[in-house]
Amino acid sequence: MIKYVINGGKPLYGSVTISGAKNAVLGIIPAALLVEGVCRIENVPRISDVSLWLDILNFLGAKIRFINPTTLEIDSTSLRQVEPNYDMMRKMRASYYLIGALLGRFGSARVAMPGGCDLGDRPIDQHVKGFQVLGAEIDVRSGIVHASLPSGLRSGHVYFDKVSVGATINVMLAAVRAPGLTVLENAAKEPHIVDVANFLNSMGADVRGAGTDVIKIRGVPKMRGGIYSIIPDQIEAGTFIAAVSATGGDITIDNIIPKHLECITAKFTEMGVTIIDKDDALQIIRDKPIIRTNVKTLPYPGFPTDMQPQIAAVLCLANGTSVITESIWDNRFRYVDELRRMGAQIQVDGKTAVIDAVPSLTGAPVCACDLRAGAALVIAGLAAKGPTELTGVHHIERGYENLVEKLRMLGADISVIDTPDTESVFRVG
Ligand code: EPZ
Repeated sequence: MIKYVINGGKPLYGSVTISGAKNAVLGIIPAALLVEGVCRIENVPRISDVSLWLDILNFLGAKIRFINPTTLEIDSTSLRQVEPNYDMMRKMRASYYLIGALLGRFGSARVAMPGGCDLGDRPIDQHVKGFQVLGAEIDVRSGIVHASLPSGLRSGHVYFDKVSVGATINVMLAAVRAPGLTVLENAAKEPHIVDVANFLNSMGADVRGAGTDVIKIRGVPKMRGGIYSIIPDQIEAGTFIAAVSATGGDITIDNIIPKHLECITAKFTEMGVTIIDKDDALQIIRDKPIIRTNVKTLPYPGFPTDMQPQIAAVLCLANGTSVITESIWDNRFRYVDELRRMGAQIQVDGKTAVIDAVPSLTGAPVCACDLRAGAALVIAGLAAKGPTELTGVHHIERGYENLVEKLRMLGADISVIDTPDTESVFRVG
């Protein structure tokens, strides 16, 4: 079994370069299916969710090659209208983007209901609502979403009842080929929404207003292969800010867009962390005790839910009691049980966690239950006294490129080991 073994208590020093944004590339890869042509996508993070997407595209007949370690070419000219492999689709949340892409390309789609991190209820009613406005008939049978356009794509006015990243991207993918003007109201505004819209426009689409809550899309009859570079990952950068905030030290985070990080840096500054803006880099210094604070996760530009577990790990070590309110997901505190194994004092009541500070955490055998929970446990292990052994690391590798190597470059004592299930660095009994 693959595990991370972390010997904590070491401050982090040095610089780290942020990779392309996971939640942007997972929407951009399926967008390449809209055109009979070649798309070139740069700054692609080498994460397992990208590998899974490429396996799905390959299954559908797209031709894929990396022309260098982070530049991907996708040729969808010979895409086949077949049902993607059910098991592949279930492994990833973003697989539902195939519905929008295949509706836009072929006018129909048969796609397995998505999987992804277990964060509580993850419906797709807003996606369905948007597709229906565009003329689609949607039917879910035996775990498969059947989408068709009996009278073809039409433009329309979509008002999302909830702000949804996935639904905003998915309906945008279908709408770029719908004749006329489609308006998406109450759209999500995350940086990765803007990135997908910019990629679509590089292919000849006409998408305006991405990054605001009203997106206007004029359908185009023809699109071509685009060339685009993925934005840096705001959550990966935030994860490194949280790591040095927990361990202490002084690191520089290269290849970032400061504007995308404002909601994160503002909160850590409040916690007493020194953050120096250096254009496309940030210097993060934590040389004073962490100040307690309250956090409420909100859609962009609020504090991102995908940073909630990571900041919780840091607040375990603050100078008082902090309160975290999770307003996006029903069940995003499952990692708390694992932090308690390390000595954290956290009470969870529904969507609220009350964190009482402790002088230190203690290393322990813990297990990651999802991607960001895994990141939080790495952060806790880096700050804890003694060794931490982390399993479930496949979750982490879905969304972080070379996390262990990047942390080792910053002086962390973290290694990847592959041991039989029974072996452990902890002797029990
Ligand atoms: C995306 O998930 C991200 N995943 C998530 O990141 C992120 O937590 C989330 O957006 C919110 O920012 C990817 O981009 C691949 P939503 P998504 O649709 O699109 C409800 C990570 O760690 N909702 O914005 O699935 C939903 O239940 C992952 O990188 C409906 O009710 O999230 C949730 O409460 C985890 N009906 C809220 O809206 C719908 O049709 C936000 O969901 C769709 C969503």
